[in-house]
Amino acid sequence: MFQENMLQTPGPEFLQASSPCPAWRAPEVIERGRWKISLGQEPVEEFLEEYRRGAFDSASSSRALLAPERTPKLNDFSLSLRQQLLFGDGFARIKQAKTIRLSAPQQRALFLRIGSLMGRVMTEYGQLYPVHDRGIDYKEQAAPVSMTTAETGMHTDSSAVGALPDFVGLLCEEPSLAGGDSLISNALTIYHELRGSCPEIVNLLEGNYIRDVVTPGASRSLETLLLNTFPIYSSGRHGEGSTFRYMRYWIEKGAERAGLPLKPEQCEALNRLDEALNSPENQVKLRLGRGDILLANNRTLAHGRTGYTDRPGHQRQLQRIWVNLGR
Ligand SMILES: [Fe+2]
Repeated sequence: MFQENMLQTPGPEFLQASSPCPAWRAPEVIERGRWKISLGQEPVEEFLEEYRRGAFDSASSSRALLAPERTPKLNDFSLSLRQQLLFGDGFARIKQAKTIRLSAPQQRALFLRIGSLMGRVMTEYGQLYPVHDRGIDYKEQAAPVSMTTAETGMHTDSSAVGALPDFVGLLCEEPSLAGGDSLISNALTIYHELRGSCPEIVNLLEGNYIRDVVTPGASRSLETLLLNTFPIYSSGRHGEGSTFRYMRYWIEKGAERAGLPLKPEQCEALNRLDEALNSPENQVKLRLGRGDILLANNRTLAHGRTGYTDRPGHQRQLQRIWVNLGR
């Protein structure tokens, strides 16, 4: 169903060991449109049959334990999606068949079912984590930017060294009035570009950075903070393959809290990286409608969203899922 692309050109260490998710530029990936995927009626009907039988009613873990064979068409769909995230463009926007209307609980159970058919659903924030404005200023207290209406900046999810989602997914339950568009950039393309044009920048991005820890319940001690140190681009550091891990705000907060400020050349490297991640050549912008799902590779792509305004009386609400492949 999806074309498997591999980076063919021998490159430096990061690219040689990299995940096969190919490098792309925004205009070509937008034109190709392979990431626009429809979820047909049959897999949803198959899911609904199990749902009505009560297969998803009890403890949430049963959703993950239910054998893939019980929903074979949805299983095939989810495995194709996994291929798209690993070997295709690295992201997918899924629109559901308009012929079937799902209730909010059915929608969430379907989203969770797709996630659990792709890999292990992580539970650091619960299996599904609601993303909406909680009136928190993330600059005033340690809290994820996802709890605000602010623009997030381009990033990968999770600043904790031991918690790395391979895939991040979002189910849109209520769109905003304005803004809140999803943004995707390919960190592999940017690595390749920077390695060729300014290798000294890449060397700095392959160095270690302390990240502030914001995962709920995680220790905020200085010792934990100092252990939460890893490069932005690395190979074999987080299991097999190459990984891009970046969240600028928490890198700056980590450096500040540790009393080890970033060096001017490191700040310059982050500026260059942000510039590349936000360039129209590299950034895909898309808008999720009600019921749409966005899934993205969290090791090779950066994602973000624009700031937004809520509809009066209707908060923009998404459900987030983290999926780990156990590699
Ligand atoms: Fe995110």
